[in-house]
Amino acid sequence: MFARLTEDISTVFARDPAAKSKWEVLFCYAGVKALFSHRLAHRLYKNGHYFLARWLSSRCKKKTGIEIHPGATIGRRVFIDHGSGVVIGETCEIGDDVTIYQGVTLGGTGKDHGKRHPTIGNGVIVGAGAKVLGPIEIGQNVKIGAGAVVLKPVPEGCTVVGNPGRIVRRADGSRPTLDHANLPDPMLERMQQLYERLVELETALRRHACEAGCETCGQDAASCPLNHICNPKTEP
Ligand SMILES: CC(C)(COP(=O)(O)OP(=O)(O)OC[C@H]1O[C@@H](n2cnc3c(N)ncnc32)[C@H](O)[C@@H]1OP(=O)(O)O)[C@@H](O)C(=O)NCCC(=O)NCCS
Repeated sequence: MFARLTEDISTVFARDPAAKSKWEVLFCYAGVKALFSHRLAHRLYKNGHYFLARWLSSRCKKKTGIEIHPGATIGRRVFIDHGSGVVIGETCEIGDDVTIYQGVTLGGTGKDHGKRHPTIGNGVIVGAGAKVLGPIEIGQNVKIGAGAVVLKPVPEGCTVVGNPGRIVRRADGSRPTLDHANLPDPMLERMQQLYERLVELETALRRHACEAGCETCGQDAASCPLNHICNPKTEP
């Protein structure tokens, strides 16, 4: 337990240049406190002490602003920077060397049962305010930009930004190219709309002509057997 705490403190030094002393990290870093508390809560949870586990995690939430469900599985050398507003769901699995900034939600979409929270691979960075929702897999060393909303799995090494999250960089450094087969065609869409209006106009014209009396068959609109555009009967 205390060996892991020492490892957490070293992790902060490795990733936060602002950290000055071990005491500062131990007493002032909400993420270190939250992870320490989560380890106890997770142990209680695994042994079936659900109420005690939840009580501990809710106490930790009050003190740090970080809510980690005791059921969540968290790897080693995870760093929760600043912390406030971080929410980690029950079935979430987080790998080793992950960095999570303030305001991150690793949650469910509300549609799934059982495994409903994301699986975060080793070395992932989840930027401030990012939301990763659903039982999706985030590959190793993925970077999730601040404020991104990720709803689909992300392959290893990619960078995802925006809402909805889109890949802006792949593991090999390349940027995704356009899907030429599925490009939108605004001209075609406009022509389609014009064609549909033309059909409507023809139908209306045909109806009016038949109502006025079809010169060709002499029937009204409902019974005109030819259904063609015809001239209205001219009054004598
Ligand atoms: C996404 C991030 C990790 C950068 O990753 P990267 O692989 O180096 O990507 P780049 O900086 O080259 O950016 C790639 C593109 O995404 C855009 N982008 C980067 N971060 C973005 C974000 N958070 N939201 C929207 N777009 C973003 C860039 O403008 C760039 O766009 P362009 O290709 O049109 O120029 C970083 O921008 C980020 O958001 N880090 C989170 C850090 C954080 O939360 N800090 C809080 C400290 S308190």
